[in-house]
Amino acid sequence: MIFEQLNPNACRTYLIGDEKSREAVLVDPILEHVEDYLKTLDQRKLTLTHVIDTHTHADHISGGAALKDQIGCQYVMHQKAPARCVTFHLTDGFECHLGNIPVKVMTTPGHTKDSLALVFEDRILTGDVLFLDDAGAGRTDLPGGDPGEHWDSMQRVLGLPDHLIVYPAHEYRGRQPSSLRDQKLHNPNLKPRTKQEYIDYLEGLTLGPADWMKEVLKANYACARDPKAAWIPVDVPACEVKGTLEIGANDQLVVGIPVEDVSRKLAVGASLFLLDVRDRHELSEELGHIKGVTNIPVAKLSHRLSELETYRDREIIAICKAGGRAHTAAQILMQAGFQNVQVMMGGMQGWKQAGFPTEK
Ligand SMILES: [Fe+2]
Repeated sequence: MIFEQLNPNACRTYLIGDEKSREAVLVDPILEHVEDYLKTLDQRKLTLTHVIDTHTHADHISGGAALKDQIGCQYVMHQKAPARCVTFHLTDGFECHLGNIPVKVMTTPGHTKDSLALVFEDRILTGDVLFLDDAGAGRTDLPGGDPGEHWDSMQRVLGLPDHLIVYPAHEYRGRQPSSLRDQKLHNPNLKPRTKQEYIDYLEGLTLGPADWMKEVLKANYACARDPKAAWIPVDVPACEVKGTLEIGANDQLVVGIPVEDVSRKLAVGASLFLLDVRDRHELSEELGHIKGVTNIPVAKLSHRLSELETYRDREIIAICKAGGRAHTAAQILMQAGFQNVQVMMGGMQGWKQAGFPTEK
């Protein structure tokens, strides 16, 4: 069995191939890397027969539709997957062979309605239904997510053999795949809890903003073939559930501030530093901008931090359209040692909806 993880970043794409037949499948390919995958397949002299997405992703655009177009392979997902470009739908318990390699499908809703795990003889590809160790599992607060269904899926995972090695769809911190036995001991999501205790546990976790992720979901529902179909922040551990992790010095939680609080503080003359991280042209478009903002687009922020040195001790409010880019900006600032950074929740959309004044 050929088994490789192909991506350099936190999203995992697995190449599984049969040495004899030279047939291969890709699990969870990313649109941006499609050309690299094609080169790898060519170098390994493998024929791609199927692409499988373990669920509709919210943090990257799938390469499934593009690979289906280019190679003519089958694009396979859960029967509840909404994307129309899917050519083969899987149901719970479905068994097949990838070349000569037996695999069984286990549906695992909770992170999304269309989540599934692929169970091989010696390993399990868990998608986002289970990550490694203290990373826990994928968030359940996105469209289609359901903490109660996630608990049901966890009970099914707990019933699987201990020797299976767990390969998740994300790993942000270099954790190595380990056995389900280890996960049963160390993964907080597999800790014995009643369903209600589990729901309470998930609902009590602190999660990063998700507005941009909803746009990515929509792009995947629509079988996007353009990597720019949705904006995706760079290097954000988007699927990681905050609250299950220890927070290191360079890995602090981003704090949100409601638009009403920003407005109130401005009204009483508080010394806020408003940092609008959208592209310059957006400040004069429909949503406008708040009077007095400094504009540094998020993509340039790392290189322009020196411009902010004098404001290091001020209360900095990062602002964008909906909150996603501001979240990235806040992380960049906090990693650079800025102590007092908050994200304006809901961004300019929220500000405008609340009826507060803007300029163009
Ligand atoms: Fe996901």
